[in-house]
Amino acid sequence: MANTDMQRFCDELRAKISIVDVISAKIKLVRKGREYQACCPFHNEKTPSFTVNEAKGFYHCFGCGAHGDIIKFEMEANGLSFIDAVEKLAHKVGLQVPRLSQESKEQQEKRATAYDIMEMAAKYFEKILRLPEGREGLNYLYSRGFADDIITRFRLGFAPSNNGLKALLNSRGITEKEMAELGLIAIPEGGRTSHDFFRNRVMIPIFDKRGKVIAFGGRVMDKSQPKYLNSPETPVFNKRRVLYNYNYARDLGYDAKNLIICEGYMDVIAMDKYGIGYAVAPLGTALTEDQIQEAWKVVPEPVCCFDGDSAGIRAAIRSVDRVLPLLKPGYSLQYAFLPDKMDPDEFLKAKGKDEFLKTINSTVPLKDLLWRKTLEGKNTATPEQKALIEKEIKAEIALIKDETVKAYYIREMKNKVYEELAGTRNTISGNYHRSSSAVKTQKLFAAAAKTDLDDLVAKYVVSAFVCYPQLIEEWEEKMLSFSIKDVRLREFYQQLLDISHDNSLIDEDQIASLLDACPMTDWRKMVDTRIIKKQCPDITKMRAQLRERILEVQLKQLEIDIQTVKAKLESGDFSDEDYNRYESLKKERDSLIESN
Ligand code: UTP
Ligand code: MN
Repeated sequence: MANTDMQRFCDELRAKISIVDVISAKIKLVRKGREYQACCPFHNEKTPSFTVNEAKGFYHCFGCGAHGDIIKFEMEANGLSFIDAVEKLAHKVGLQVPRLSQESKEQQEKRATAYDIMEMAAKYFEKILRLPEGREGLNYLYSRGFADDIITRFRLGFAPSNNGLKALLNSRGITEKEMAELGLIAIPEGGRTSHDFFRNRVMIPIFDKRGKVIAFGGRVMDKSQPKYLNSPETPVFNKRRVLYNYNYARDLGYDAKNLIICEGYMDVIAMDKYGIGYAVAPLGTALTEDQIQEAWKVVPEPVCCFDGDSAGIRAAIRSVDRVLPLLKPGYSLQYAFLPDKMDPDEFLKAKGKDEFLKTINSTVPLKDLLWRKTLEGKNTATPEQKALIEKEIKAEIALIKDETVKAYYIREMKNKVYEELAGTRNTISGNYHRSSSAVKTQKLFAAAAKTDLDDLVAKYVVSAFVCYPQLIEEWEEKMLSFSIKDVRLREFYQQLLDISHDNSLIDEDQIASLLDACPMTDWRKMVDTRIIKKQCPDITKMRAQLRERILEVQLKQLEIDIQTVKAKLESGDFSDEDYNRYESLKKERDSLIESN
């Protein structure tokens, strides 16, 4: 039977069978306007982002990107092959599937799967790295201290500037549609021909749990932007569910009884080089619930490793609210902060493995972060001020779902409110001593002061996020070092973050309708998307503009800080710490200028 016969038959099935019927046989659908909604059966969620459109005959999940028609649904939800899914549906409406000839059955089986195609791409990048065209990439990896054994283990490769991958896949019968669906080629608007998505980059394959290639990260070899280009979400890649290096780290971490969660690919690879194979990293976003659950399958208290600068501390603080609802007896996260703005890769190079492990093992517990987070920026002198802190800490603890853990947090925090805020002695155990980790956390927080964004800049940034919601994810961590003074704008920004965490793959229209559905009054008055769009008609321009504006703010603040410390130094009344701070501020300014 020719392929087109099968296509015709499938069209007939699609026309005859209601997708709502098929899906509601499996999950409960609720009608919402023209569509139906449910919690997505393909990923773990609590608020529905899975929609079914009867008229168009497809389902779509705004959370995980799952998308397809009745046949795809049967395949994915019931683990059926294409043919079995078609047969099942045909049976339902009393139709006979046209018989496949032996030849086309074989063809069907021979058809490359998404995994096969990704594997072809990985092999290709690996091969190029060893050819003259990949020489620059190989030298780059060597220059970063990654030798051949590491390159082989992580299957690092190189993507040249020509369209070699497209040509190769083409020659193997892979269609452009398939390549585009896997994010391997990009199809420009306006009918120009497609080209390889990754060009002139060092390639880092991302593996799933079983070690199959599901995506790539590509790093530039100079200072151009973006530093890493990552595969888009595809049928085999949902970046919120994957931890880089989980395939190796799962067993190694289980044996070592430790799992380190750090920020980047290169950190994971660098640790492995030093014999620390139990490190993983999320893929450029904050740690998600799914990722925390995966990490807990390895050890009950993974160590999250952050840079000890303000962005790192802000990122750690933000993770607190995300992990509180998930806590269960015995399971938590610990936090380690590296000094001097170093990431694990740099730290290992500068100080070696022993120092690194020492730092990683001296962790701050979640409860200390929670405490500091609540205390931050507040006065603690009067009873009213203390009451406010108690009230806020109660609100935080209310996020904990597990009753047993919650009960212990209530007890622990109650003690803290009385002891630390009163500055009194603990009558039972004599002198009250703060634990060393609590002192350490306090110091960390003191170093992580936020920079105020003036109202105009804040409004500009937030408006940019509404116009190009993809930027929220890219900028979220960086934004942690800044505060928005205007209360309403700040709340609005928080709302944007929440929406972006709950929904990946979102565009301007979707975010606007989700905002409309929130109890935000006249948010459209707060942001001005038209002016922004006019100034920056595409995301690349927007990115550059944002970078420029934020850089300006950072440099201005640094200049103020430098002048303040300098005045102190000139007055003669200063400590070693002041002097070190002066030096490190200047260093920070220089590296900021250099990297932009
Ligand atoms: P970093 O900027 O900290 O990079 O990004 P790094 O890991 O230290 O990399 P090197 O050492 O400069 O090569 C941390 C992570 O954020 C994501 C990547 O997953 C990266 O590993 N990221 C960063 C992106 O996805 N895109 C970017 O442009 C930058
Ligand atoms: Mn690095």
